[in-house]
Amino acid sequence: MAGQMKKILVIGATGQIGSELVSHLREDYGENSVIGTYNNTDPSGDLLDGPMEKLDVLNAGRIGEVVDKYEVDSVFHLAAILSAKGESNPQLAFKVNVMGTFNVLEVGRKQQLNRIVIPSSIGVFGPEVPREKAPNETVLRPTSMYGVTKVTGELLGNYYFNKYGLDVRGARFPGIISYKTLPGGGTTDYAVEAFYKAIEDRHYSFFVREDTRLPLMYMPDCTRALIELAQADLEDLNYHADYNVSSLSFSARDLAEAIRKRIPEFSFDFQPDERQEIADSWPNSMDDTPARKDWGWQPRFGLEEMTDDMIDKLKEKLDEHERK
Ligand SMILES: NC(=O)c1ccc[n+]([C@@H]2O[C@H](COP(=O)([O-])OP(=O)(O)OC[C@H]3O[C@@H](n4cnc5c(N)ncnc54)[C@H](O)[C@@H]3O)[C@@H](O)[C@H]2O)c1
Repeated sequence: MAGQMKKILVIGATGQIGSELVSHLREDYGENSVIGTYNNTDPSGDLLDGPMEKLDVLNAGRIGEVVDKYEVDSVFHLAAILSAKGESNPQLAFKVNVMGTFNVLEVGRKQQLNRIVIPSSIGVFGPEVPREKAPNETVLRPTSMYGVTKVTGELLGNYYFNKYGLDVRGARFPGIISYKTLPGGGTTDYAVEAFYKAIEDRHYSFFVREDTRLPLMYMPDCTRALIELAQADLEDLNYHADYNVSSLSFSARDLAEAIRKRIPEFSFDFQPDERQEIADSWPNSMDDTPARKDWGWQPRFGLEEMTDDMIDKLKEKLDEHERK
């Protein structure tokens, strides 16, 4: 089960995905075998159950140092500037997403790591791709800086595999919905904010139009996808840094109605802002046949199950927060 991963470094562990991935990996591989890193946000909660190191991905020497210190053999590289934040500071997004990824790959090459996993995103797609079931193999001409950097990350990952034999893997994730850590400034943040606002204020103004339909995924499917991709046999992989992984696809109104079914006092409206333009450049859904065939990818949560679980868990979390 553990494959060739023994000492795992998770870069960007305090983020939306990292904060959950670390605890899953620690359950599978042991608390001291999974090292998390943070940059501007201090780690808290169960992240502190195992080793944590401060690290800026723009400092290649420091990445090498941490890899050496813990004899790391595998890396999940999650540090990034997401789509909406990236559009307000494209220069920072380029630096962190492109140079950060380059630094991680160079450490992987020089220190001969077994495996590097780097999530990609639906952000790689631009307006030319088919809206429905965007294929794995298609034209990649994104219009956001985030998309430009994620395509570059995929190309770099595939280059390091072909040129140096470095085992780089990645999947194009849709917008991720979760309750543990708030999202870090993406275009699909509305799909998380709506739950918080429905529970806390009973009202939410979506920042996209009601008919905005995007690919989305619940966090338990996301962390499982990352771990299953990392554990797959290399011989089975026909792609490397660029697997489509699909799960849910629903409109902003569908989500609002699903929440109102469970919280009848919930009211909502739609006031699109600049993030609408990014949302409009992405497809509604993805075809993920290669991921299903090559490493058995299969999502588990539908809209109804996700909404039930999200509301239950978020209520628990917010109640607990209030009691403290
Ligand atoms: N969350 C989503 O909806 C989603 C969807 C598709 C793909 N992804 C991808 O998944 C990965 C993780 O995303 P996330 O949602 O956890 O993002 P996030 O914004 O929640 O977390 C990113 C982390 O990167 C860290 N970081 C930023 N700059 C850094 C630097 N210079 N050095 C070190 N760390 C730095 C931040 O402190 C943060 O902890 C990214 O590659 C992202 O593109 C996320």
